[in-house]
Amino acid sequence: MTVTLLVENPEFGVAAEEKGFNEESELVLDGGFLVPYANSFGHGFRDYDAESERQEGVESFYKLNHINQTFDFVKNMRKEYGQLNRVEMSIWECCELLNDVVDESDPDLDEPQIQHLLQTAEAIRKDYPNEDWLHLTALIHDLGKVLLLPSFGGLPQWAVVGDTYPLGCAFDKSIVHHKYFVENPDYYNPAYNTKYGVYSPNCGLDNVMMSWGHDDYMYLVAKENKTTLPSAALFVIRYHSFYSLHRSDAYKHLMNEEDVENLKWLRIFNKYDLYSKSKVRVNVEKVKPYYLSLIEKYFPAKLQW
Ligand SMILES: [Fe+2]
Ligand SMILES: [Fe+2]
Repeated sequence: MTVTLLVENPEFGVAAEEKGFNEESELVLDGGFLVPYANSFGHGFRDYDAESERQEGVESFYKLNHINQTFDFVKNMRKEYGQLNRVEMSIWECCELLNDVVDESDPDLDEPQIQHLLQTAEAIRKDYPNEDWLHLTALIHDLGKVLLLPSFGGLPQWAVVGDTYPLGCAFDKSIVHHKYFVENPDYYNPAYNTKYGVYSPNCGLDNVMMSWGHDDYMYLVAKENKTTLPSAALFVIRYHSFYSLHRSDAYKHLMNEEDVENLKWLRIFNKYDLYSKSKVRVNVEKVKPYYLSLIEKYFPAKLQW
C-alpha cells in the first residue's frame, strides 16, 4: 500500500513574512518548519509553483482552518482522540511510521521526515548537552502528524498542521489571516468572543482549549501514557505552533507563572525547529542508541495512540 500525504505543507511559506521572518533565504513550513530556499537538488524550493498560487494555497488553508476550528469541534476531537484506542506502538516505531509518509507531489521531498526530527534534536543537543529531555522533546514534537494517516482518521490538513490558537475567547488580531474568523460560528457567540471568554485571568494555558492539530494530539499521547518528561517538555510539544503567543505575545493574560517559565524553553526550542531536510544529514544508526535510551528513560516501551 502506498501512503501519499503531505507531512509538511509547502504553502506555509508565505505566512513566514507575516510572522516577521525576513530572511529571504528561508521560508516557514508547518508553522515551525523553516527551510532554506535551496533544496537538495540545488533549485529554489517550490519552483513549480507561482508565488500567487502559493499565496492562494496559504489563504485557502487558513480559511478552512479558521472556519472549522470551533470550541465544540476541539472538544469533540479531544474526546475522540483522547481515547487512544487506535494503535499501540513505541515512540521509535512512530518516528519510522512518520518517516514512511511522503508527499509524492512534492518535488523537494527527498529526505525522510526523521531527518527533520533528528536534525532539530541534534542541534539542541549540541548547544544544551545537559538537557536530555529537550533532545527527546525535539525528536517527538511532530509525531502527532500521524493524524494525517488513514489509520488515525486521515484528518484534513486544516485539522493537523498550521498555527494554533485558543478557542473559547476572542481570536487575537495577530493570528495569521485573522479575517477568516468572521466565518467561524464562535466569532458571534457572546460566550466566546470576549477577551477572557470562558476563562479567567491567569487561569493557566493548561485550562485553555487550543485549536486541534498535531501539537495537542502529541501532548495528549505523551501525558496519557504517563511520560516522565518535565512540564516544560509538554509545554513545548503542545504550543510549538502557537505563534500568536511566542512571536506576538498575545494571550499573556491567560498565562500563569509556570507558563511564563515554560515559555522561555519554547522560545529556545523554536529557534531549532528550523533545521532543513537539505542541511547536514544525521546518521540515524549512529544516534539511534542515544535516542532509544532517552525514550526508555521518559516513556513506557509501548504507548497507546
Ligand atoms: Fe510541528
Ligand atoms: Fe517541526
